Amino acid sequence: MMKRFALLPAAGVGARMGAGHPKQYLDILGRPMIWHALDAFQRHAGIAGMHVVLSAEDGWWNAYDWSGFDKLKVWRVGGASRAQSVLNGLAAMADELSADDWVLVHDAARPCLSQDLLDKLIGEVDDDAVGGILAMPVADTLKRAADAARIAETVPRAGLWAAQTPQMFRHGLLRAALERAGPEVTDEASALELAGYAPRLVESDTANLKVTYPRDLELARLLLAASA
Ligand code: CTP
Ligand code: MG
Repeated sequence: MMKRFALLPAAGVGARMGAGHPKQYLDILGRPMIWHALDAFQRHAGIAGMHVVLSAEDGWWNAYDWSGFDKLKVWRVGGASRAQSVLNGLAAMADELSADDWVLVHDAARPCLSQDLLDKLIGEVDDDAVGGILAMPVADTLKRAADAARIAETVPRAGLWAAQTPQMFRHGLLRAALERAGPEVTDEASALELAGYAPRLVESDTANLKVTYPRDLELARLLLAASA
């Protein structure tokens, strides 16, 4: 049986949040945001270990209590882009797993991942040859902007999905694909797509939101408070 590991890139600065410090440390119910993201994997019996990638200059991590997370390893190998941070993490964790083991890459900025969604992803992807991701079918009518505040055209939404995380791929395949794709891809699936694979789409939930702007933080707080 293949093992499963979580990898959380957390070396970003949170520029769009504009909080003055990295958003993964913003408070939600008395814990830093990344604590909640990690807790989902700590609690799941199907996850053998979890790895976090921090920036080498991160001065925040050590201020918090991580003692409840006995599956956790921390690497200060963050890169200039998300893809580079993930690639550095895959290299750092390589001693602990085999090429066919699963890696679930998850944004530190998605603190509301439920056990049900994690179960669903693992259940639908575990037997897949390639791997897959949580994603949402696009529900809104899509507009392409002509300039900042005017519509140029409506974009057909049929077949469009919004990608989330976790994104679940085998360690060896993901590492090779990211090395080939370069540092600009914004998710793991893109790297696999560029290598000619068609990752599986697993329908997710809007509750698994990414905290990007200040308004997202309040929503994440409400969702976590409701599920606590
Ligand atoms: N990330 C990373 N290394 C980078 C950039 C991003 O590990 N060089 C991580 C972030 O910490 C986050 C995830 O990738 O957990 C998703 O990125 P995003 O939401 O864009 O976070 P930031 O890059 O921090 O935010 P912004 O783009 O607004 O600066
Ligand atoms: Mg970013």
